Amino acid sequence: GLKIVTIGGGSSYTPELVEGFIKRYDKLPVKELWLVDIPEGKEKLNIVGGLAKRMVDKAGIPMQIHLSLDRREAMKDADFVTTQFRVGLLDARALDERIPLKYGVIGQETNGPGGLFKGLRTIPVILDICKDMEELCPDAWLINFTNPAGMVTEAVLRYSNIKKVVGLCNVPVGMKMSVAEMLGVEGERVHIDFAGLNHMVFGLDVYMDGKKVTEQVIDLLTGGEQSGMTMKNIKDLGWEKEFIQALGILPCPYHRYYYQTSKMLEQELEAARTVGTRAEVVKKIEAELFELYQDPELDIKPPQLEQRGGAYYSDAACNLIDSIYNDKRDIQPVNVKNNGAIASIPAESAVEINCVITKEGPVPIAMGDLPVAVRGLVQQIKSFERVAAEAAVTGDYKTALLAMTINPLVPSDSVAKQILDEMLEAHKKYLPQF
Ligand code: NAD
Ligand code: G6P
Ligand code: MN
Ligand code: MN
Repeated sequence: GLKIVTIGGGSSYTPELVEGFIKRYDKLPVKELWLVDIPEGKEKLNIVGGLAKRMVDKAGIPMQIHLSLDRREAMKDADFVTTQFRVGLLDARALDERIPLKYGVIGQETNGPGGLFKGLRTIPVILDICKDMEELCPDAWLINFTNPAGMVTEAVLRYSNIKKVVGLCNVPVGMKMSVAEMLGVEGERVHIDFAGLNHMVFGLDVYMDGKKVTEQVIDLLTGGEQSGMTMKNIKDLGWEKEFIQALGILPCPYHRYYYQTSKMLEQELEAARTVGTRAEVVKKIEAELFELYQDPELDIKPPQLEQRGGAYYSDAACNLIDSIYNDKRDIQPVNVKNNGAIASIPAESAVEINCVITKEGPVPIAMGDLPVAVRGLVQQIKSFERVAAEAAVTGDYKTALLAMTINPLVPSDSVAKQILDEMLEAHKKYLPQF
């Protein structure tokens, strides 16, 4: 049987993962699921763990749920290590979102200054996990969900000895499901050729029942006040029809931060003044979820979890693990080493792209190159991710300033320095390398 270790096990997303493993138990017999957290997360871990145990009991399958605050004890001989942790918890995210706003810059968990700082906090921890894996479970796969997932995958590829790493995001599957809804068909009839980077991925072509429908979908996407394609954490502003027609490919919801920067900033400032930033909203949703999870009568994943941005997370994670374990050779969009699949991105860098998922891991499907209109932005974000990862590893101030300044959402070197200095101070507890 399989042993899976989930780091950040106290996450409110864990019941999704457990549900995914229960559904697939026949073909993916997970004998041990170890949920690992840190002392600060102990209470959440116990509540989520209790629910996980009730879910497994109800399903009547022999999956053991172990709760642990000792990562190394848990990791011994694991087959898969999945990561879904948040260094500094939601308070750190709220700072990532609020500080840039003071300078008129987008405040977001994975984009701009917020994405940089989430990376600076997270990368040292993931590299420690990689070291533990080398020692304790050298054959295991690392399935990383922790944001910023693209930058984190880049860091693992460049700065660890772990080769079996896959970064995961629910945006591509979310886009596919939105397209299916627009077309009024089931998700399985839709196929999208995905290529780009995490939260910077494009749908190059769209197919329904094998027939190309890209132009029809672009018309649907740009037809109204809203696009019909977003995530719970991103406001659905409509697209300029002629712009997307000229682009000729599907943007992802996160592209709004780049192509609709001023409208998105206005919207964030308004939210910050009223309901709060997304982290502040999520705190309330999370409190509600944990209240529900504590109910000893509850033994399923509650629908209230859909208020979070991570819809379809468990499908993405469990389908990936299922396809690796069972050598299914189906196509899934994941973050892996490019290996030439996108011509204008370095071969050794992480990209988010459709892959054939085999026992030996995901094999990226070559897409040629991205259209010239988006190629530069994608390369720029890749440069940002690389410099940011280097700053996270070295703790070098100038490298961090370089990363901040070259981010396309930051307008100038002096604003970059001001934001950097304020955020380094605010987050210093979680940035021991600086
Ligand atoms: P959360 O705030 O609930 O954190 C999850 C757990 O991580 C907490 O219980 C916390 O105690 C624990 N934790 C913190 N530091 C840790 C450490 N050093 N080691 C082990 N555990 C640690 O977070 P969440 O909202 O469930 O999100 C978890 C992560 O998943 C975040 O990084 C988030 O950005 C990411 N996420 C990714 C996607 C995606 O598409 N890839 C989607 C949603 C969320
Ligand atoms: C999206 C993204 C994630 C992101 C999340 C935020 O689905 O793919 O990478 O972190 O939603 O969701 P939240 O509910 O925490 O705002
Ligand atoms: Mn994501
Ligand atoms: Mn800039």
